[in-house]
This record gives sequence, structure tokens and C-alpha cells, in this order.
Amino acid sequence: MKIFTEKKQIQKFITQIKRENQTIGFVPTMGALHQGHLSLVQQALINNDVTIVSVFVNPTQFDNAEDLKKYPRTLKKDTALLETLSEKILIYAPSVDDIYEGKTEAQQFSFDGLEHEMEGKFRKGHFDGVGTIVKRLFEIVTPNHAYFGEKDFQQLAIIKKLVEKHSIPVKIIGCKIHRETNGLAMSSRNTRLKPEYKKAAPFIYKTLKTAKVMFGTKSANKVTEWVINQFDAHDLLTLEYFIIADVKTLKTVKRKSNKKNYRAFIAVYADDIRLIDNITLN
Ligand code: PAJ
Repeated sequence: MKIFTEKKQIQKFITQIKRENQTIGFVPTMGALHQGHLSLVQQALINNDVTIVSVFVNPTQFDNAEDLKKYPRTLKKDTALLETLSEKILIYAPSVDDIYEGKTEAQQFSFDGLEHEMEGKFRKGHFDGVGTIVKRLFEIVTPNHAYFGEKDFQQLAIIKKLVEKHSIPVKIIGCKIHRETNGLAMSSRNTRLKPEYKKAAPFIYKTLKTAKVMFGTKSANKVTEWVINQFDAHDLLTLEYFIIADVKTLKTVKRKSNKKNYRAFIAVYADDIRLIDNITLN
């Protein structure tokens, strides 16, 4: 397994790959890999000659220094997990300096309003940080295809917008949410859940599934009210937001239209751990 830590090395390697007309599939991650990440890597392996996975905890997308400090860094374990899929995967695990060259700042972006909804309201500056790192990684890796999970549906929409607005020649592939058998969306944060919260957390997806059924006959407002009540009555889980939004604009739906597609988005605190999930509604 090849691990690159400097962009100079990986760029040299990529020049060779391009010369041989091989296609590159790219999966950006922050490490602490789990089966959700691996499902993206598997798709990249199927559809490309070369698969590159980046492992980089990006400081500019954290609005909380403590969160950044606590983020798990498990490169050895991540490498071993990727090795179970294929020996041929390339890992790019740069240092902060290699990426930011002494200027650890986010660029400011406009994503046509997508950045002001949901996660954008609760995590200030987050999507500028994501845009900055993903744009930079695309410039270094120059992938043909890049894979992002629907787990972070807003991030996926923003990356598609980034690529469109900056004319970056890469095809963005959205991948389904990978779940535990109990329905909980896989996340690096799940391992930090205390046992009673781990037991409670599948309630999030269970509620989303019921909301989806209700949305067939009820208004978005009625469904939202019902979800809020479910969490008000819950002893352990605290709702941060539940929103039914148009998949294109990510704006909260006011009145349903048959011509539009909707998705429900949720953020919940289980103790001090923030969990997000979403479900397609039609
Ligand atoms: P990270 O949280 O490590 O996630 C890397 C990719 O894995 C993202 O595209 C995310 O949506 C996907 N992913 C995580 N859990 C998933 C699951 N249960 N099912 C399917 N896909 C899942 O997202 C980031 O890192 C960063 O913001 C990054 C894009 C790397 C920029 O720093």
C-alpha cells in the first residue's frame, strides 16, 4: 500500500498515471474510517483504474478548537482497513503545512445560498472550510470521479455546486447512506456514544422512516410538528433541527408540489455527540 504525505510525491505519481491514460477515482475523508467510508472506496475501485483516498483532518472546517483536537487520528488502522479492500489503493495523508503552506485559512465561497441552510446555520464557516480543502485536493489529485456520501447530503450538494461554479473537470458521484443493522447511519462519532445512547440512537432513523410514510398524506408542517413532539418526549435524545427541504435548493418546504423532490434532514444530540441523518421522501 502506497502512502503519500507530500503533494510533490503524489503529483509526480499522478502525472505518470495520466500519461498512461488511467482514470482516477478519489475519496476524500478525514480518516477514522468505517464501513460507510469503505462503501465509497468500493465504488471507486469498481469504476476507476486507480483509487486514491485522502486522509486529512481539515482544520478550516471546524468551528470549535476542542472538536478539532478531539477528532480521532488513526492512520495505521485506516491503512489496515483499506488494505482489506485492495492493496492497490493509494493513500494521501498530508500534513496541515503541505496543504495550507503556512496559511491555514478558509477561502470564502458562495454556493448560491445552499451554504446558509441547515448545517450552515449551526456550524458557522464550516462550508467555506469544506470548499477550500476539497477544491485544493481536486487540484492536487485531478480525479476523473470523486465520491461523496449522501450521509452529508448538504455537503454533497455544495461540492456539486463548487465544481459547477469553478468549472472543475471532475464527475461527482453521490453514494447511499451506509447504516448499522439497527438503522443508525454509520459515523466516526458512533464509537464515542455511551452504551445507553448507542441503544437510543436508532430512534433517529426509525422516526425518519415514519416521517416519510406520514409525508405521503400530511403536510410538511404536520410531519415536522410530529417529529418535534417525538423528541420532546424522548429521555435521552435532543433534537437540534428537523427540516423537510427541496432537494435542489435545500430550502424548507412551505407548500408541497408534485413536481419537486423532497428530503427530510435531522440533527440530534445524544449526550454531547451530534448525529445527523436524512431520508428521501419521494
Ligand atoms: P468524513 O466525515 O471523513 O467523510 C468522508 C466521506 O464519507 C463523506 O463524503 C461522507 O459523506 C462519507 N460518509 C460518512 N459516513 C457515511 C455513511 N454512513 N454512509 C455513506 N457515506 C458516508 O466529509 C468529510 O469527511 C469532510 O468534510 C471532507 C469531505 C473529507 C472534507 O474535509
